[in-house]
Amino acid sequence: MEGENMIERTLTIERAVTKHVFPEYYEAAAAIAQPRHFPSPVNDPEWINSATDWFVESRIAMEVGPGRGEFAEAVVKKAGGLNRYYIVDMSRGMLNLVRDRIRTVETEVKPVFICADVDSDSLSEIPDHSVDRIIMTNAFQDINPLAALRTFRRVLKPTGLFRANVIDREIREKYSTEDDFFDREMGYFYLTRHPPDENGKGIEPIGYVTKGSGEKTPFYRMMRSYYRSELDEIFNECGFEIISDAPLILPKEIWMNSAAAQGREDVGTRRLKLVDKSGRYQSSIEIIAKPVTN
Ligand SMILES: C[S@@+](CC[C@H](N)C(=O)[O-])C[C@H]1O[C@@H](n2cnc3c(N)ncnc32)[C@H](O)[C@@H]1O
Repeated sequence: MEGENMIERTLTIERAVTKHVFPEYYEAAAAIAQPRHFPSPVNDPEWINSATDWFVESRIAMEVGPGRGEFAEAVVKKAGGLNRYYIVDMSRGMLNLVRDRIRTVETEVKPVFICADVDSDSLSEIPDHSVDRIIMTNAFQDINPLAALRTFRRVLKPTGLFRANVIDREIREKYSTEDDFFDREMGYFYLTRHPPDENGKGIEPIGYVTKGSGEKTPFYRMMRSYYRSELDEIFNECGFEIISDAPLILPKEIWMNSAAAQGREDVGTRRLKLVDKSGRYQSSIEIIAKPVTN
């Protein structure tokens, strides 16, 4: 490639496994006594209100990757027409936090907890074409979409909808600094820190990243960002059509209060300068897709 389109590979990656993150990482996140939240729209009251309205219009719905259950709590409180609510996560610790959080809410909604890794588990307990809505918030970057989307396609009704926010690769390319472990060639962001291992179970690195001729640093999670055109290809391959996409723009505090910003001194970097200027921050696009029916 030449000129403007040239992509410089400044990172060398060593990785023996194909997963983006293992449950142990999230078990550690779930076990933290005083957690900081994820930089997620679930911490924006405005977003949560409109997203739960959309979700509880349905009778049978599924959430994948509920984390600590902020969305789940709002869903069971609102209830709407929702009857059966599948809550799927590969981390037992996260599912326990969600269960505890909604235990005392009086509701007509029936939660069904499923501990499963959507990269490899076909969710056989959920019948074909039975689910009206699926939502995934701040979790799409963690999964293998080609496996998971085929499962979601199987369980969704022909009239069903899938909704997720996806890290915007163009934004990442524009605002990542040299200090970030962002791989411009692959669109991956490597996380070289992990949640404190308070339960002492140990978190193995999933690979190592080396910057230039520098030090080899272990990483524990890799987050995948996507170009809009890549998304079309992936979704089409799995039997979906993307019917809407919109930038997800959140109040600045959501980023500043998050675990991701914790301990970072680079508040003056380009991305955060922009956040400072506008008082809002954008890191993802929210897409809605429908199954393609023949
Ligand atoms: C960054 S957290 C987001 C949590 C919450 N939705 C939020 O927005 O704050 C990602 C969640 O997805 C779950 N997760 C990640 N990869 C998964 C996979 N392959 N299968 C099932 N759950 C997964 C994690 O355990 C975690 O609960």
